[in-house]
Amino acid sequence: MEKGQLLYEGKAKRLYATDEQDILWVEYKDSATAFNGEKKAEITGKGMLNNKITSLIFEKLQEAGIASHFVEQLSDHEQLVRQVTIIPVEVVVRNIVAGSMAKRLGLEEGTVLKQSIVEFYYKDDALGDPIITEDHIEMLELASTEEIKQLRTKALEVNEVLFGFFKEVGVDLVDFKIEFGRDNDGQILLADEISPDTCRLWDAKTKQKLDKDVFRRDLGNLTQAYELILAKLGGQHS
Ligand code: C5P
Repeated sequence: MEKGQLLYEGKAKRLYATDEQDILWVEYKDSATAFNGEKKAEITGKGMLNNKITSLIFEKLQEAGIASHFVEQLSDHEQLVRQVTIIPVEVVVRNIVAGSMAKRLGLEEGTVLKQSIVEFYYKDDALGDPIITEDHIEMLELASTEEIKQLRTKALEVNEVLFGFFKEVGVDLVDFKIEFGRDNDGQILLADEISPDTCRLWDAKTKQKLDKDVFRRDLGNLTQAYELILAKLGGQHS
């Protein structure tokens, strides 16, 4: 397969066309950003780690029957995905209180939730990705009532699989953000990435943070944390 023209460059990835219809070539970058792009750094090896971790996670999800845009990992930095139109809604699932939920509701970080919580955010950099309700999603015509139901159900399914998957390797899945897209037939597919950039992952015993909070809060060496996650998932770091 041939890599075609650059279609889109985001904060963490570049998307290219290919010579095959509806298949895109994704290149993971070494850039780290936080706080809506206000904090930035180049971290050698981060792109490779996120590409490998995302690929492993999408493979696990596919084995569990959860369809996604993922086709295959091509190289350390690259993967092939099915082309979808991203729904501009970030879906966050939480199992343990942390981050913006702790701040917004005045709750203590680390409180285990009796029931997993689903939140929706409007994917709009200029507005700073505000939290929105299902009514807002409908009013803004971002998704239909039926699609919103699917986003919620699919997000909870992803959580169930990933929560168990991480538990087995001694990691607490605190929370995560996922995105969905529509394919040419209008089917909703899990898309984007699932990596320590988009999840909060704590060592189950020590509660050490093994995710992007290491960068956001200057807690130490980000690549070491991500390498540990890759190793726990059974991946190889070259
Ligand atoms: O900041 P907050 O607590 O709302 O983040 C919840 C989860 O969603 C975290 O795992 C965070 O890494 C992820 N997230 C993300 N991209 C965003 C916002 C949050 O991956 N734009």
